[in-house]
Amino acid sequence: MSIQRPFATQIDLRTGLMSAYERHFLRHSGDMAGYYRAEPQADDLLIYEYFEREVPAEQGEIVQNITILHPGTIDGEYYMTKGHYHANGCCSEVYLCLRGRGTLLMQTRDGETDAQEYRPGASIYVPPGGAHRSVNTGDEPLVLFALYPADSGHDYGSIAEEGFWARVIRGADGQPTLVPRD
Ligand code: 6PG
Ligand code: NI
Repeated sequence: MSIQRPFATQIDLRTGLMSAYERHFLRHSGDMAGYYRAEPQADDLLIYEYFEREVPAEQGEIVQNITILHPGTIDGEYYMTKGHYHANGCCSEVYLCLRGRGTLLMQTRDGETDAQEYRPGASIYVPPGGAHRSVNTGDEPLVLFALYPADSGHDYGSIAEEGFWARVIRGADGQPTLVPRD
């Protein structure tokens, strides 16, 4: 096992920007074909991005992640992340909401489901085996600080195939509404 040096990262609590990061991912509407109930009008809409500090993908190591999910809707469905299970079924995760409003959808392979509310200061635990998808139901960026085991891995395929148990839609009253998946 390689011995790591300590390092500090300054995180802007309003924007989520990290003073240093090794990984930066961008997700545009074109990358999310088939995820929304209606296809996005354009494929170059920036839906979300995330930044990570890199550590060895070894047991006991923890990844620091900032996810910035931009505000918006596609045919009334709020902007959301792809969502995934951790390939390593014993890996949990914690999300701390730094800014914005939203929903964290969760489900297990045997059909258990849950939804928790994101608001500033909300710290949400995702148990091992729980697929997770973040949804921005506000009108400002949803900024999340996440910690997860570096040996988690990601299973996107199951979610791309089966989707999540519910969609989060802007209701007639303009409020977020959970509707069971069709
Ligand atoms: C992870 C975390 C988190 C997640 C991002 C983007 O396991 O890496 O859950 O960093 O990857 O919030 O969401 P998607 O991975 O679902 O696109
Ligand atoms: Ni995860």
